[in-house]
Order: sequence, then structure tokens, then C-alpha cells
Amino acid sequence: DAIDQRPSSCHASIAKSWVCSDTSPILALIEVERKPCKVDDMKVHVANHPLISHKLTVLRDERTDSPTFRLLVEELVTLLAYEATREVRTKTVTIKTPVTATTGLVMAEPRPVVVPILRAGLGMLEGMTKLLPTAQVGFLGMVRDEETLKATTYANRLPENLSGRQCFILDPMLATGGTLVMAINYLIERGADEITAICLLAAPEGIKVLEDEFKNSGVPITLVTGSLDEKLNEKGYIVPGLGDAGDRLYGVV
Ligand code: URA
Repeated sequence: DAIDQRPSSCHASIAKSWVCSDTSPILALIEVERKPCKVDDMKVHVANHPLISHKLTVLRDERTDSPTFRLLVEELVTLLAYEATREVRTKTVTIKTPVTATTGLVMAEPRPVVVPILRAGLGMLEGMTKLLPTAQVGFLGMVRDEETLKATTYANRLPENLSGRQCFILDPMLATGGTLVMAINYLIERGADEITAICLLAAPEGIKVLEDEFKNSGVPITLVTGSLDEKLNEKGYIVPGLGDAGDRLYGVV
């Protein structure tokens, strides 16, 4: 499997065992032992693939310019989306090949909903819709106060009713977790069935916040990330990180 899977925990009755990559020195910094837990605990998938590592290294490099950065983000999201969509719902259909009749799987209705979090999540949309061209797209505009690190919402264009829908949130940086908690709560309030967040980088502090917040939400939540970084610094930036994702994508505003 190209992607290692680290759960916060696993129920003793779940047959699947989730393991943490032992190849990443960063992962070794956090507690990784298996422990008993509830079925609806958050799942965390951390990529362990040389192409993802390569692209992330170039992305992190301060010398990488915006056009290259945007291209790399798109490529990385497509690779992460491959894993994130592993559980996308399908139905069986009958078709005819030039040789014979057969059955196959196609994506089921209703289609998934993709929610980029503006501004930086917009840079991830193209890479995601490459894999899911028929997905519906909703938008959330959120900004983090650089002093308090609290997120506020300035735009909300989500479908009113998300019951029965699988949702994918796109946010490049899981730092304090404030933005993602708010975004996930908007989706849960509207009835989302299953939520997967795709983040290029994640900090252990942010993962812990998500795990605590959604422990008993009853909605399956998954995080797929390209890297579990070391920590947050005093300004709430991910270390080693890549700086401000929005600025690096679109320039400083
Ligand atoms: N948002 C960013 O763009 N970068 C960080 O390191 C943390 C939050």
C-alpha cells in the first residue's frame, strides 16, 4: 500500500490493524502505539511514497516560485486524492464491451462534494477535480487571525442539505486545527455522512484538536496528509512546514 495508516486508535473488535510508518523520523516523535478505541474515531493516513516526498521537499524549499508551487500542489493533491477516495461509493452496472456483456463498478449517486477552504484550498481544487470531475463543489472562505490564531468565516457557499453525501475538504495546512474544526462542523450541521480532509502538511497539535473535537461526533472523519510535521511554532506556523501556503500560491496580499 502506498499510504501508511495511523489511527488515533482502533477498536479491539476491528480486524484491521493500523500501523504507523516506521520509516519517517517525524512520525517517531509522536506516540504511535496501538490502543483500544471506538469505531468512530478519526482515521489518519500519512503518505509514505517517494514521489510525494520528492514533491513535498521541492514545495517546502523557499526558492520554489509561485508557478512551480501551484503545479506541485495540483500534482500532490491528485496523488493524495487517490488514497482519499478509496472508499468512494460505487454501484454495479451492466455494460457491453466489444467482446461480451459484463458488469463493472461506477460511482454512485449522489456524487461527492468537494469543499476547498479559501484562499489556499483553492490551489488544491484542480488536482482534486481531475480525479473527481463530476463532484459538486462548495466553498468556504475562512481566515485565521494572526494574533489569536482563531478562524472566522467570510464566505459560505455550501449545499443546504448534505445528508447522504461524502464530503472532501481541501485545506493545505492542518496547523492549530481551528479552521478545519469549523469547516467540519458546518458539514456535520448540514447532515454530511462522511468527511475526509486532505491536507498537504499536518502538525501533531492540529491532529489532536480534531481527534478530541470529533471523538463522539458519530460521523466518520478521515485525514489524509502528505506529511506529519514536527510541531507548531509560537506564531502557529507548521515546522518545518512551507510557510504561508496562500502567500506561496498567490503572492502576499
Ligand atoms: N497556515 C499556513 O499557511 N502555514 C502554516 O504553517 C500554518 C497555517
